[in-house]
Amino acid sequence: MIDTVILEKEILSAINSANDQDIIEKIRVEELGKKGRISLLMKELSHLSPEDKKEKGSKLNNLKNIISDSISKKKNELVDVELNKRLLKERVDVSLPVQAQQTITGKIHPVSQVMDEISEIFGSLGYQINEGPDIETEHYNFNALNIPESHPARQMHDTFYLPNKNINDESLVLRTHTSPVQVRTMEKEEPPYKFISPGRTYRCDSDQTHTPMFHQIEGLVVDEKTHLGHLKWTLETFFKSFFEIDTIKIQLRPSYFPFTEPSLEVDVLCDRSGSVLKVGEGSDWLEVAGAGMVHSEVLKAANIDPNKYQGFAFGLGVDRLAQLKYGIPDLRTFFNGDVRWLNHYGFSFLDIPTLSRGLKK
Ligand code: PHE
Repeated sequence: MIDTVILEKEILSAINSANDQDIIEKIRVEELGKKGRISLLMKELSHLSPEDKKEKGSKLNNLKNIISDSISKKKNELVDVELNKRLLKERVDVSLPVQAQQTITGKIHPVSQVMDEISEIFGSLGYQINEGPDIETEHYNFNALNIPESHPARQMHDTFYLPNKNINDESLVLRTHTSPVQVRTMEKEEPPYKFISPGRTYRCDSDQTHTPMFHQIEGLVVDEKTHLGHLKWTLETFFKSFFEIDTIKIQLRPSYFPFTEPSLEVDVLCDRSGSVLKVGEGSDWLEVAGAGMVHSEVLKAANIDPNKYQGFAFGLGVDRLAQLKYGIPDLRTFFNGDVRWLNHYGFSFLDIPTLSRGLKK
C-alpha cells in the first residue's frame, strides 16, 4: 500500500500551488471524491489483516482530515482573493459627476403631492388657504386654544421648546399642530371663516407611525349656522373624494381636544399586515384626523361672540393620508432623503401649475 506520508506531501503541495477555485475543486474530486485516491485506498483496507487495517485505517483517516481541512482553507483564501480583485475592479468613483439625466428629472414627494390633492378638494368646496409660522409662541400654540399652562394636554404634545424667549418674554415652541393658524386668522379677520392651512408640525416622537416633523392640514369653518352635521358631511365627502372610493370606511370616535366641544377623531379602515398598506381592507384602523366644534372659549379669546358664531375645525394628518393612499408602510422613510425611495414613490412632474409647484408660471 502507498505511503501516506509521501501522499500527504504530494497533495498538500498541489493544494498550495492551486491559484483558482476550479483547480482546488479538481483536487478535491481527485483525492476525496467517491472515486478519489484516498477513497480507493480506504476500500483496499478490507483486504488487510485486522491489525494492519487498524493502523493503516487510522493513518488514512488522519490524512483525509488533513487534506479536507487544507482544501477548505485554501478555498476560503481564494474566495477572498477573488472578492478583493472584484472590489478593486468595480470600485465606484464617488467624485465622478452624476449622469446628466438624474440631475434633471426630479420627482414630486408624496407629501407635496397629497398636500396638492387635499388643497384642490377643499378648493372645490370653496375653502381659502391661510398659512402660519413654524415657530410659534405659547399663546398661539396653547393658551388661546384653551390649553393653559397647567393643562395636562400640554404634556400630551411632547413639545420642542426653543432655548430663547421672544421680546415679550414668552416661550417659543416649534408648533405642535396647525391649530394656531385658527387663532391667528380669527384675531386678524372678521367672521365668517372658511379656510384650510397646510404646513409642517413638530413633536418629540419617533416610530413606524410617528416622526418628529410631520404635516397637517387645518380646516376652520365659522359662521352663524354651521353645525356638527356639516362637519360629518365635510369629512365624509373629503375622504371619498381623496381616496376615490365611494364606499370608503371611516370611523368617527368621540375624543377630547381642549379647543373643540364636542371633539372627535377620524380613523380609516386599512390592512397593515403585509408589506404594503391597503386602504379600505383588513381590520386595522389608522387615525388620520382630529376634529370637533370650535370651543366657545376659543372664540371668546379671539373676541368673537360665541352666541352669534359657531363652527367646526379639523386637523388632517397629511403624511398618514399619503401612506394610506399610496401604500407606504413606514412613515420614517418619508424623511430619510433616499433618492431610490423617491424614484419609487414619487410622482412625475407634470407641467401644470399647482400649489406646491407654483400657481403662476
Ligand atoms: N390640533 C389637533 C391635533 O393636532 C387636531 C385638531 C384640529 C383637533 C382641529 C380638533 C380640531 O391633534
